Amino acid sequence: MKAISSQGRLFWSMVEGPCIKSFRRLSKMQEIRFIVNEVPRRVIVDPQKSLLKVIREDLKLTGTKEGCSAGHCGTCAVLVDGEVVLSCRYPVAKTKDKEITTIEGIGTLKNPHPLQLAFAKAGAIQCGFCTPGMIIRSKSLLDKTLSPTKEEIKKALQPHICRCTGYQKIFEAVELAASYFRREMKSIKLKLEGKNTIGKTVTRIDALEKATGTTLYAADLAVGGCAHIKVLRSPHHHAKIIHIDTKEAEAIPGVLAVLTAKDVKGTNILKMAGDDQPILCSNKVRFIGDPVVAVAATSEEIASHALEKIEVAYEPLEPVMTLEDALKEGAVRVHDDRSNLFFEQPIIHGDVGKGFSEADIVLEKSYSTQTVEHGYLENDSGIAYIHENGQLVVMAAGQNIHAHRKTIAEALGLGLEKVRVIQTPTGGAFGGKLDVSVGGILGLAALKLKRPVRLVYTRSETFAATPKRHPFFMKVKVGAKKDGTLMALDFDVTADGGAYKSFSNSVIQRGVIHAQGPYRFPNAHVYGKAVYTNTAFKGAMRGFGVPQVAFAIESILDELASELKLDPLALRMKN
Ligand code: FES
Ligand code: FES
Repeated sequence: MKAISSQGRLFWSMVEGPCIKSFRRLSKMQEIRFIVNEVPRRVIVDPQKSLLKVIREDLKLTGTKEGCSAGHCGTCAVLVDGEVVLSCRYPVAKTKDKEITTIEGIGTLKNPHPLQLAFAKAGAIQCGFCTPGMIIRSKSLLDKTLSPTKEEIKKALQPHICRCTGYQKIFEAVELAASYFRREMKSIKLKLEGKNTIGKTVTRIDALEKATGTTLYAADLAVGGCAHIKVLRSPHHHAKIIHIDTKEAEAIPGVLAVLTAKDVKGTNILKMAGDDQPILCSNKVRFIGDPVVAVAATSEEIASHALEKIEVAYEPLEPVMTLEDALKEGAVRVHDDRSNLFFEQPIIHGDVGKGFSEADIVLEKSYSTQTVEHGYLENDSGIAYIHENGQLVVMAAGQNIHAHRKTIAEALGLGLEKVRVIQTPTGGAFGGKLDVSVGGILGLAALKLKRPVRLVYTRSETFAATPKRHPFFMKVKVGAKKDGTLMALDFDVTADGGAYKSFSNSVIQRGVIHAQGPYRFPNAHVYGKAVYTNTAFKGAMRGFGVPQVAFAIESILDELASELKLDPLALRMKN
């Protein structure tokens, strides 16, 4: 047995580095004065603290969002002396005596800026998480020119990611505001409600709140006396948990609770679509990022520091990293009590053998797709508290609150009536927030402490610990007549489900249903399988398995058309 304890700390120290460093720097504070949204302010802070953290935590201006903390997404943009800075990478020390403008200083709900109206009017806002940053950048552009070309707008907004809108409407919003400033229109009017709206363009009811930064996402909620949670995660693909020593962490001043699977009173299983994923791992970890211990403390920094002091002894196990490894005879099992092949779904009609024998041409190809991260801009976040009526209340971003309520109640051993789940405005999800992420740990901590708790994933955690799109490995065989008439299809799909089932079953079912595309195959044999591996778990994502099979079926039809020297569109129309 090789028992190791330090590797886990090292891995997550890289992830949580800034928090731990700031914990150590608390003795080096400075007074910094600046003007924020035309109001003189001063803060006493670690001068290396990011401007973003100061704006959100010290000044309580939550309109500026934290998407990546690494200068890559643009959600944290603010103006410093009129120039855009990405505040997540900007030490507050650099703002001494400067003028800062956040989204709250651009306009308000009662008195919105024309750009905010234009974003709402043009339909440039969906989840709204990118919107404050986009508006800040657009303001800086229009301050320099009122006649930007489309190319100039695109170039200006290049540092900003929007995962929802497709950008076109955002460019149109900037053009609309520019034309207002050039006095080509008298006003930008919103149609928020009213009669006879069917078939008409109306403004999203929440658009202006999002444009002014007043929408409160889970991480923006102000909760008095809140404890902050950080999670220790597996540094191993596959390992047994031999021992967890939390004594040193518990002794740190400010640490309120150190929670392991032993503290969970219910099933500890987040039974959404799957039945295999624990809130906290008890005896085994199955992918890098699996949660093992949660620490609740009076600050995020103390909670992060406490993670460093937890000793977890693991016995590393042989990891199952590929489908071949997972399906070979005598394969190591990801879950000891069940086979790695956890779901199969055939769809069969006609007589495939006969169809191929009557075909003039038979083509056989293999296709594969990769793991894809949803990339929603709002990291998984939430709060939980015990209501005065005794109910556990969980407020978090999500996509399926009724199922989340049942899942959290069962996992924590509570009656359904004892749990209330409130969905907060959700900063993008695309299927990735169908699973319960922060809710289980939040509920566990709130029950233990009987005080409000807060858990906000870092971007690294969101990447590591939430579901992904399934990679599909597809063997496709089609038979056709010389004139392009399709005769038979044999389509075999194997999906890498990762460490836990999540929504794999539904993804495979949708995938096999759509494997034939919109085409008429008189004979078809489609077979889907989902398999466990020691990789990040795979779940729902835009299209539920359909994009993967569409890629394969459309590719092979192009190849068939090429072989038959037919127009690819004509071949499709024929079938
Ligand atoms: S660029 Fe600052 S949070 Fe992403
Ligand atoms: S509206 Fe842009 S990320 Fe959602």
